[in-house]
Amino acid sequence: MAGTVSTCFFFVFLLSLLLPFQISAEESSEKEFVLTLDHSNFHDTVSKHDFIVVEFYAPWCGHCKKLAPEYEKAASILSSHDPPIVLAKVDANEEKNKDLASQYDVKGFPTINILRNGGKNVQEYKGPREADGIVDYLKKQSGPASTEIKSADEATAFIGENKVAIVGVFPKFSGEEFDNFSALAEKLRSDYDFGHTLNAKLLPRGESSVSGPVVRLFKPFDELFVDFQDFNVEALEKFVEESSTPVVTVFNNEPSNHPFVVKFFNSPNAKAMLFINFTAEGAEAIKSKYREAAEQYKQQGVSFLVGDVESSQGAFQYFGLKEEQVPLIIIQHNDGKKFFKPNLEADHIPTWLKAYKDGNVAPFVKSEPIPETNDEPVKVVVGASLEDIVFKSGKNGMYFFFYLVLFHGYQMDFGIHCALNKKYHIIGCKL
Ligand SMILES: *[C@@H]1O[C@H](CO)[C@@H](O)[C@H](O)[C@H]1NC(C)=O
Ligand SMILES: *[C@@H]1O[C@H](CO)[C@@H](O)[C@H](O)[C@H]1NC(C)=O
Repeated sequence: MAGTVSTCFFFVFLLSLLLPFQISAEESSEKEFVLTLDHSNFHDTVSKHDFIVVEFYAPWCGHCKKLAPEYEKAASILSSHDPPIVLAKVDANEEKNKDLASQYDVKGFPTINILRNGGKNVQEYKGPREADGIVDYLKKQSGPASTEIKSADEATAFIGENKVAIVGVFPKFSGEEFDNFSALAEKLRSDYDFGHTLNAKLLPRGESSVSGPVVRLFKPFDELFVDFQDFNVEALEKFVEESSTPVVTVFNNEPSNHPFVVKFFNSPNAKAMLFINFTAEGAEAIKSKYREAAEQYKQQGVSFLVGDVESSQGAFQYFGLKEEQVPLIIIQHNDGKKFFKPNLEADHIPTWLKAYKDGNVAPFVKSEPIPETNDEPVKVVVGASLEDIVFKSGKNGMYFFFYLVLFHGYQMDFGIHCALNKKYHIIGCKL
């Protein structure tokens, strides 16, 4: 009996010893590194920072919930960066913050912006959504817009194997050409990696005897690098946009291709999509005929994508396509008009595309297979993993923004999110 009492007592004693530790452990895990801002302190806080990251979120948004622990972890790591990088969040669903959200053109959640220079410059965050990726991307974004390349190893690491990298070769790091290059790097820094060097011999591809000024764009597709020598800022920007777009954008499970898929959907061009089983017999012959056609029509307002049927279930649901229709081409105009050729063979491609360009292919009308599915847009959208619905009141009433995972990669994290308008046409995509 006495033994039992003392055991109980011992436990109580032990508990009382442990309790304070538990509480303090909880307290420290509750410390938030992400700054919570609202309409009352937003401008004040932002104006005090040269560099601050702001996430506009809504409590009901699934992607926001998934991002939250990663964003917090990144904020905790970046709080000890030199200088510290501050990550903040605003609940854009709160009535009192809605003006703020519309001021930042928040159309979907989460919207993450990088604010520089006390909030004077705003750039969309286009980096990854997991902690380590966020940290790397923001470290780069908070440093200089263009990195100096001083050795061949640095050049190889900088250029990498699966992204676009832009390197300016200069005889000296001053002068109007260098200033214009730097201005462009600042403008496009959230989209591309910019570097500069005094020595073209350090670069892995291209003529190594040039002394510059010349801009060399490296890319993981097509001709692998392109040189450009016009340093007019607008001309440089056009060059970068055009040369960084693949002749045929590839959609498969490879996440490094996804930024190009996003670019494809955001292009103002008509969009031609070939869906095919990449591993099926004859796929290469069809892809190569399609590529020839793409070379021919790329300057004529059409963008081209080839998607592996294995990775494109989301797109199949969205467009109302069936697997037994592959290989197929679907062309979509920005007004939603569609042109469709199922079960095609390699030889059909040039003739069908020519007929399409000449206006001799009839667009789908409501009685035909694809729009039949489109008659029930909600069903189609739900089928394509409808994630979040944003209701935004605008001047003309309500706008509906549907975010859906258009394509399924092998990991949902790499899904591409597209906003649709009321007519369920894609109006913009992001990673
Ligand atoms: C620099 O860019 C400005 C603006 O585009 C342009 O007027 C100027 O000619 C450019 N300088 C050079 C050397 O190309
Ligand atoms: C693609 O083709 C391969 C090889 O013929 C086959 O094993 C696979 O099931 C096909 N996938 C689809 C989705 O049809």
